[in-house]
Amino acid sequence: MTSDFDNPRHSDMKPLDIQLLDGINNTPALGLAIRGWADCEERGLGDGTLNVHATMKAFLACAQNGREMIPAGVMTWEYDAALKRVWIYQSYVLPEFRGRGIYNLLWARMVEHAAIDLKAHSIQSATHIRNSAMRAIAARQGRFEECVVLRFNLA
Ligand SMILES: CC(C)(COP(=O)(O)OP(=O)(O)OC[C@H]1O[C@@H](n2cnc3c(N)ncnc32)[C@H](O)[C@@H]1OP(=O)(O)O)[C@@H](O)C(=O)NCCC(=O)NCCS
Repeated sequence: MTSDFDNPRHSDMKPLDIQLLDGINNTPALGLAIRGWADCEERGLGDGTLNVHATMKAFLACAQNGREMIPAGVMTWEYDAALKRVWIYQSYVLPEFRGRGIYNLLWARMVEHAAIDLKAHSIQSATHIRNSAMRAIAARQGRFEECVVLRFNLA
């Protein structure tokens, strides 16, 4: 962890704080990522496969809630050095914090980190074809759709 999340009431924290985590185990990012996965599954926008692993890195957004900062949003990802590619696995913002630009900020930090620190060539991710909100948000961020996953169920 590269920030002082252990002390969420730290007086220096701004109303919105984005932190880079080297792993999600034992951090609030784990629970948020699982909530995001469950949210999509419950809306019929998942494939029944958990996409949360302890080795993933994450950006964690903490937002002001009254007098304290609480974990409000997450973006989990991994970097493939051979492909120079960041793959985003899960993005989630708590319902009560949506529409405040938290996801845009997580995305901006991801782009900055991928370009400057990792020297990555691309950032990729996947979303369900019926996740029209996510597809619209990604398009507004300048991301484009380039493949369709084909599936044939055997069980
Ligand atoms: C998708 C999600 C992460 C967006 O988080 P958010 O913090 O509310 O997003 P922001 O406030 O940063 O909005 C980002 C942009 O998308 C737009 N937007 C937000 N919600 C939208 C929606 N439901 N439909 C279309 N556009 C939307 C905003 O207007 C904003 O546009 P702008 O940059 O032109 O101002 C959040 O709604 C969420 O957690 N959804 C459930 C989980 C999910 O579907 N995750 C993606 C799985 S791949």
